[in-house]
Amino acid sequence: MKEQLDTIISDLKAIMGRDAPESANASETVVGSPSYAIIGTGMMGREHIRAILQLKQARIVGIFDEDAGSVKRALREFTQSGHEAPAVYTDLDDLTDDKRVDAILICTPNFTHRQVFDAIKHTGRPVFLEKPMATTLEDAIYLAEASLSYPSSILLGMQYRYKSQYQLALDAINNGDLGSVKMISLCEYRPAFLPKVKEWNKFAVYSGGTLVEKCCHYFDLMNRIAASLPARVFASGGRALNFKDFSYNGQSSDIDDHALVIVEYENGVRGQFTLNMFSEELYEGLTVSGNRGTLRAEERASFKPGRRSSSKITVEVPGHAAYDGFDCTFPEAIESGGHYGSTLFEHVRFAKRVQGQQSDGASCAEGLWAIITAWIAQESIRTNTVVDVRETLARLGLDPFSEGLIPDINQRQTSDETNP
Ligand SMILES: NC(=O)c1ccc[n+]([C@@H]2O[C@H](COP(=O)([O-])OP(=O)(O)OC[C@H]3O[C@@H](n4cnc5c(N)ncnc54)[C@H](O)[C@@H]3O)[C@@H](O)[C@H]2O)c1
Repeated sequence: MKEQLDTIISDLKAIMGRDAPESANASETVVGSPSYAIIGTGMMGREHIRAILQLKQARIVGIFDEDAGSVKRALREFTQSGHEAPAVYTDLDDLTDDKRVDAILICTPNFTHRQVFDAIKHTGRPVFLEKPMATTLEDAIYLAEASLSYPSSILLGMQYRYKSQYQLALDAINNGDLGSVKMISLCEYRPAFLPKVKEWNKFAVYSGGTLVEKCCHYFDLMNRIAASLPARVFASGGRALNFKDFSYNGQSSDIDDHALVIVEYENGVRGQFTLNMFSEELYEGLTVSGNRGTLRAEERASFKPGRRSSSKITVEVPGHAAYDGFDCTFPEAIESGGHYGSTLFEHVRFAKRVQGQQSDGASCAEGLWAIITAWIAQESIRTNTVVDVRETLARLGLDPFSEGLIPDINQRQTSDETNP
């Protein structure tokens, strides 16, 4: 497992260092690299800008944002790192008319994703769409269905799967190291939601609700590990402390800050997720048990400047090389590359898609089912009942079960017989 981590790191370092010797100009990109345009240059759009500039696999030729402050802050990213400033489009038509653009990144707030995609889809160019793909199940299904006939790849911004501990955990689980997975336990402890432009993340109508907005990452991981579809969900949650007196433009904040979610999967796997958003520091934990043993992965991090993250993984399977656990924190040059390095790995996947190659970046079907799991959990909180997924979707007149909308869930052998 340690060797695997070394390979992951050295492969990324090779890309970061490719054709760009120490003496090269910071703006030097690999010859023939594709050109990107970015819509939405707020906090996440700028993280993408930094990652793309750091990787040098693509150049950013243009940006568009409705907010002058966001544009200014984005341009600063280019000047501060010695890169040529991109064009600043005055509207989306300007961007879609720019013949240089090979791929488009949508990094606007959740409630705008469908509308922005509709405005650019006639280009047919590869798209990177931030998570969650939508705020409603209807819009998520609409986008997932649109992706099936879209002429290029659409990759979703579910980059947590590339955090060090999760890359290793997913590989170990898919290799069958734990045998047949039976139980999954995930948790996130962190401080409250950060400030946003026009504070869209304080309102469920704009974010989709806390479990959709923030936690689709964890339901994506849980769904992948369970390798099945959620069947029943029970959740309890609410707002204990955060934003109780917060209002913006006369609207009071209505988002939850803690939750406990239990998911029963169609194949019998049981999962649980704990969210707490009134912690001082960040902590993520994953425990997965199969018929051969248990894997534990964790990450400690901080929003406070100058504090590095640290990750650890342990595989309690007799004879396993990681039985006693080891520190799997990425080296600083990678870890500093956004969300503890995961954003860099996500861009390597996106660059491959843009070049017409396959990559294991999140698909719209995976994004859709992450949202369905999260949305059903919120429905369980609202109704204080166990919610049956198929019954509820049928009652709402929604059908996310057709071909192409169900993620590839048969990625590994899960039978007890093959992994005694
Ligand atoms: N993958 C992750 O881990 C992660 C982390 C944070 C945010 N996000 C996602 O990234 C997206 C953006 O979040 P953020 O944190 O950058 O928010 P933000 O408020 O910091 O930035 C959003 C930007 O979009 C701009 N904008 C809004 N509507 C627009 C439109 N129609 N056209 C052009 N620009 C528009 C705003 O002016 C703002 O500058 C959200 O979907 C969010 O959920 C993902």
